[in-house]
Amino acid sequence: MCGIVGYAGGKDAAGILLEGLSKLEYRGYDSAGLAVRDGSGPVSVCKTKGRLSRLYEKTEGGKTMPGHIGIGHTRWATHGEPSEDNAHPHVSDDGLVTGVHNGIIENYLELKDKLIRKGYCFYSATDTEVAVKMVDYYYKKYGLGPIDAIAKTMVRMRGSYAMGLMFSDYPDEIWAVRKDSPLIIGVKDGETFIASDVPAILKYTKKVYYIGNLEFARIRPGEVTFYDLNGEEIKIEPTEITWSADAAEKDGYEHFMMKEIHEQPRAVKDTLHSLIAKDSDRSFIDLSKTGLTDETIRSLEGITICACGSAWHVGMSAQYVIEDLARIPVRVELASEFRYRKPILGKGQLVIVISQSGETADSLAALRLAKESGTETLGVVNVVGSAIAREADHVLYTLAGPEIAVATTKAYSTQLAALYALAVKAGHVRGVISEEQYQYYLDELQKLPDAIQTALSRKEDIQRFAAEHVATKDVFFIGRNIDYTSALEGSLKMKEISYVHSEAYAAGELKHGTISLVEDGTPVIGILTQPDLYEKTLSNMVECKARGGYLVAVTTEDRQDILNTADFVLFIPKTDPHFTASVTVVPQQLLGYYMSCSRGLDVDKPRNLAKSVTVE
Ligand code: G6P
Repeated sequence: MCGIVGYAGGKDAAGILLEGLSKLEYRGYDSAGLAVRDGSGPVSVCKTKGRLSRLYEKTEGGKTMPGHIGIGHTRWATHGEPSEDNAHPHVSDDGLVTGVHNGIIENYLELKDKLIRKGYCFYSATDTEVAVKMVDYYYKKYGLGPIDAIAKTMVRMRGSYAMGLMFSDYPDEIWAVRKDSPLIIGVKDGETFIASDVPAILKYTKKVYYIGNLEFARIRPGEVTFYDLNGEEIKIEPTEITWSADAAEKDGYEHFMMKEIHEQPRAVKDTLHSLIAKDSDRSFIDLSKTGLTDETIRSLEGITICACGSAWHVGMSAQYVIEDLARIPVRVELASEFRYRKPILGKGQLVIVISQSGETADSLAALRLAKESGTETLGVVNVVGSAIAREADHVLYTLAGPEIAVATTKAYSTQLAALYALAVKAGHVRGVISEEQYQYYLDELQKLPDAIQTALSRKEDIQRFAAEHVATKDVFFIGRNIDYTSALEGSLKMKEISYVHSEAYAAGELKHGTISLVEDGTPVIGILTQPDLYEKTLSNMVECKARGGYLVAVTTEDRQDILNTADFVLFIPKTDPHFTASVTVVPQQLLGYYMSCSRGLDVDKPRNLAKSVTVE
């Protein structure tokens, strides 16, 4: 989704804004622009369609735009095609207000009609131009300055927005405005930054303010003042970011995705360490930081997990694990569907929302719906201070660190680890698993980082396979039970970054239609880690082979017999069957990655996709 940056300080703003935007490239975009101001001179604006490098060239790395305050934007088109006119910043007719925006103004057509009646003209198809001109309209109508104009505009606008604004009458300040879209403010001596996400400002400061919903802020060099919708000044405490600046760099890897794949053992270990404690003679899972009590867990009658994309796949895996270990009925819902249903929730239920960014619009809406029904909520979130983390009753933080590649890897793995810990804990406090089994599962959990590391060490074989199958058009991923949920993730990794059509099927369902698509040479990737289901999935694979399918198996090292059936085998270390998705995902991530590289694609920034989907 769109990325916003802003700067007020003593340095050249344009260079800082371009660098900030480059750190937000992972969000996905199709055009970019800057607005910079030098003292009381006019605001200069530069916009380009396409990659950020074009804006960089056009402004000679920012040199053609001198000035110490400014705002910048990468756009992911919602209203109006990607074009220079539709790119942000947008400017009011006489240049009084300049603005950038992330989100969707749902009633923009109604507001646009009103402004046209008042004599305004529009040069773009965007809702953002309408928002900027609404601010201009109220500024001129009441003559009470930016606070009043912004607050009145916020009252009129429906939808979601994070905005950066500049007023030509106020040369030393920029404004940050927020409702339901992410926006943070970073402050250090003599400099203030705004950004859609932490990596854009991590290099400069770790002191960050999370601006609340329906709040806005005046930003001056080294200072920030917050206001509520009534224009009253409010106080917000800063948060110290713990991520290191290096964490948002490639660190010698060709792509962020590969770096993040390799960070999984560490990220899973950190996440588990944060949840597993030891006293003198035993280990135990400590969820006290989340505020979720044993009593609540004991009284649960049902859990609903809501999420989008890969986080939904985590929910699918967790469903099997929680139901088996804790005997609590679990439903898993796509957040975009859940939010428009009339779910039966309430006392005795827990809604878990899983989200790396903590800002996904549908997941946030699902959380709010759950809260409205009076149901207790738990957010499993990676980004500290994000909207879901702030609004959920309880928060379980994954410790993946910043994830930059659009296709998630380490966040997915840490989410799985967090949900496993929850399942084991629930099984124990509800008396479904004995103390001995509890200790066994804790041991097995702590072996996962090493198992992931071992799975990583086999990447050359996968690279070769990808190079040999670069022309593949369709791939099928199959599995049963937890292996099916892992197949869902493997298939998503394949299609989202390599653009190869792929589908994941529950192996037993294949015969109900999909098998007719298997042709000579079609790769069928079977995941086989569940001891009771191994032979059944293998039979389904053999059925595909009989129709020309090329069989790839992802299975545990003890299953050497598979070499008699599969054309290509990826062995993984054996772990407790509940937790295998953490390991089976690794070769599948690598497969998607190498397929994308073999096809010469932009692994970290796949076409049309955005990392953080902050609109519906
Ligand atoms: C996007 C990303 C996915 C992610 C999904 C949910 O589609 O590309 O990798 O799984 O959003 O994001 P969240 O931040 O809520 O986990």
